Amino acid sequence: MSSVLILNGPNLNLLGTRQPNVYGATTLADVEDMCRAAAKRLGLNVAFAQSNHEGVMIDAVHGAKGTHDALIINAGAYTHTSIALMDAVASVELPLVEVHLSNIHARETFRHTSYLSKVAVGMLCGFGAQGYVMALDALAARFDAS
Ligand code: DQA
Repeated sequence: MSSVLILNGPNLNLLGTRQPNVYGATTLADVEDMCRAAAKRLGLNVAFAQSNHEGVMIDAVHGAKGTHDALIINAGAYTHTSIALMDAVASVELPLVEVHLSNIHARETFRHTSYLSKVAVGMLCGFGAQGYVMALDALAARFDAS
C-alpha cells in the first residue's frame, strides 16, 4: 500500500480559529479525519505531521524517505521564504503535491511566490480543506499509472 506524509507548517495548528474568513472553520483534526476517509477510499496509507519550526519540517521531509512514497505539504508562510525546505524536498526525490487552503494568487503579492512549487508535481490552492483530499486523489491516480 502506498504511503503519503501530509505535513503542515506554521500556524496551521490554529486552523478553525485562525482568520476563519480566510482559512475556514475546519480544524486541523477535521482535515486529518477527511484525509483518513479519503485514504481509506483510495487504498492509501496516510501519516500526519505539523510543526511551527522550519528545521523540524525539514527533518520530517528527510524522515519520509524510505518510509513514505509521496508528500503533501502546506508549508504556510515558509512556502514563500524557505529555500531550505525546497532543497529538502528535492533531496528526498519524493513526489510532492503542494496545498494551500486559500488562493495565494488572489492575495498579497508576497504570497504569489512559492519555492515549493519549483519542486512539486502540482499545486492546489483555494479549495479550503478539500484541497488535501484532492491532493490524495491526484497522488492515487499517479500511483495507479506507474
Ligand atoms: C497558506 C497560505 C500562506 O500564504 C499562509 O502564510 C499560510 C496558509 C494557506 O493554506 O492558504 O499560513 O499556506
